[in-house]
Amino acid sequence: MATELEIDTEGYVKLAELEQVPPGEMVQVTLEWQGQEEDIALAHTETQIYAFRDLCPHMNYPLSIGTLCGTQLECRGHNWLFDLQNGKAITPPIRKTLDRYPVKIVNGAIWVKLPPM
Ligand code: FES
Repeated sequence: MATELEIDTEGYVKLAELEQVPPGEMVQVTLEWQGQEEDIALAHTETQIYAFRDLCPHMNYPLSIGTLCGTQLECRGHNWLFDLQNGKAITPPIRKTLDRYPVKIVNGAIWVKLPPM
């Protein structure tokens, strides 16, 4: 899903409408960010939306095609588990973390604060 950039005064970028990411699902949003193409994963758990770079820190598989179970995400590449609440890998002895981004919901839309590249 590609989207046009809409940025608010706090630097949040509008990535999707909430209805485009149903509970229990993940969606990839591709956008042009500061001259580079970025893939962002949006995950909708029972309680909130999480946003993170859509690249597994292991071998760069897209995380958005993995499996979401509660607040745990399983990468399809090699089945590593990540906790979306803190971004940390669960499967020992892995110490890698997801690149997570702040999220806010405004008027039914998902806004994400992306880091400078
Ligand atoms: S690429 Fe994600 S676990 Fe290997």
